[in-house]
Amino acid sequence: MSRFPALRMRRMRENPTLRNMLAEVTVEPRHLILPIFVCPGEGVSSPIASMPGVSHWSVGRLPEVVEPAAEAGVKAFLFFGLPTYKDPDGTSAFDPEQPVQRALRFLSERYPDIFLIADTCMCEYTSHGHCGHLSPSGSVDNDATLGLLSKAAVSQARAGAHMVAPSDMMDGRVAAIRAALDAEGFSSVGIISYAAKLASAFYGPFRDAAGSAPQFGDRRGYQLPPSNPKEIIRDALMDVDEGADMLIVKPAGPCLDIASKLSARTDLPLIGYMVSGEYMMMRSAISQGALDGDRALVEYHTSIRRAGCGLVITYFATELARLLA
Ligand code: PBG
Repeated sequence: MSRFPALRMRRMRENPTLRNMLAEVTVEPRHLILPIFVCPGEGVSSPIASMPGVSHWSVGRLPEVVEPAAEAGVKAFLFFGLPTYKDPDGTSAFDPEQPVQRALRFLSERYPDIFLIADTCMCEYTSHGHCGHLSPSGSVDNDATLGLLSKAAVSQARAGAHMVAPSDMMDGRVAAIRAALDAEGFSSVGIISYAAKLASAFYGPFRDAAGSAPQFGDRRGYQLPPSNPKEIIRDALMDVDEGADMLIVKPAGPCLDIASKLSARTDLPLIGYMVSGEYMMMRSAISQGALDGDRALVEYHTSIRRAGCGLVITYFATELARLLA
C-alpha cells in the first residue's frame, strides 16, 4: 500500500474526524452576505415570482428576514431598492425617503452589530432601466453618470451604510465615489466594487425582482464580455488602483477562473456573487428532486471560496447557514 500514498489519504479520510481536520476550505455562516429587496409601503412581504424563496420587504417588516439570518450567523446584508418613482436620471437613488435609505436608518439604529452594504446603481431608479444618464444617442453617458452615483453613495452612507457597492460598471466610478464620500465626511465608509461584472444572462430573475430590466437594448456596452478573461482582469485591477476596498466577481459560478486569477493579482478581499440565475438553477433542480440540496449547496458555496473568494453573496445565505450549524 505504501506505493499508493494518495489513495491511502482518501481511505483515511473516510474517517469523519480526520476529514474534518484536514478540510482546507470550508464555508461558514460568517462568510455569507444576504441580498435583500426593500420595497415601499407598510406591512409588505411579497414573494418574488421569478425567485421562489425570496421576497420584497417593506422597511417595518425587515426584522422578519434579518433576525432569522443573524440567528443563523449571517450578519451582513446587501440592499436593493424599489423606489416610489423613476425618472430619466434616477434621482430617487439619492432621495433620503426612499426604501433603501429608510431601511439603512431603521436597521442601523435597531441592530448595531449587523453589517450594512448598499448596492449603488441607477438601473432600479431610472425610467429607462439603464445604469446611468443616457446621452441623446441612447447610450449611457459615463461621465454624467459618475455624479449621480456619487450622490447615491453619499446618501446611502448618510443613512447608515457601512459600505457601498457600485454595480453600474462606469469607468472611474470608484475614484469618483471615494472622493465624494471623503468630501462629505464618510472616509470610513468603504467601497465594494463590482469589479468583474460580466454581461450575463444569469441576472434575468433579478431584473424582474428589482424591476430593472432595460426598456431597450442591453448592458453589453458597459458590462464585461464573458469571452475576454484578460480584459476582465485588466478592468478589475483598475478598480484596485482607484481605491476599492473589496472586489466582487459576478456571476460567481461561471467566473471561478476569474476569481482565481484575480486572487493571484490582488490581496484585496474578493467576494463571489452567486446571482439570481444561479440561485434559480439550484432552486429549481432541488425542488424537482434532481439534486441532494444540502450537499449541493455546501459544495457550490465551498467551490466559490476555493476559487479565492473569501465571502459569498447568496440568496441561500440563511438556508445554508442553518444547514452548517
Ligand atoms: C444592478 C445589479 C444587477 C445585479 C446586481 N446589481 C443587475 C444587472 O446588472 O442587470 C444582479 C444580481 C442578481 O442577478 O442576483 N446593476
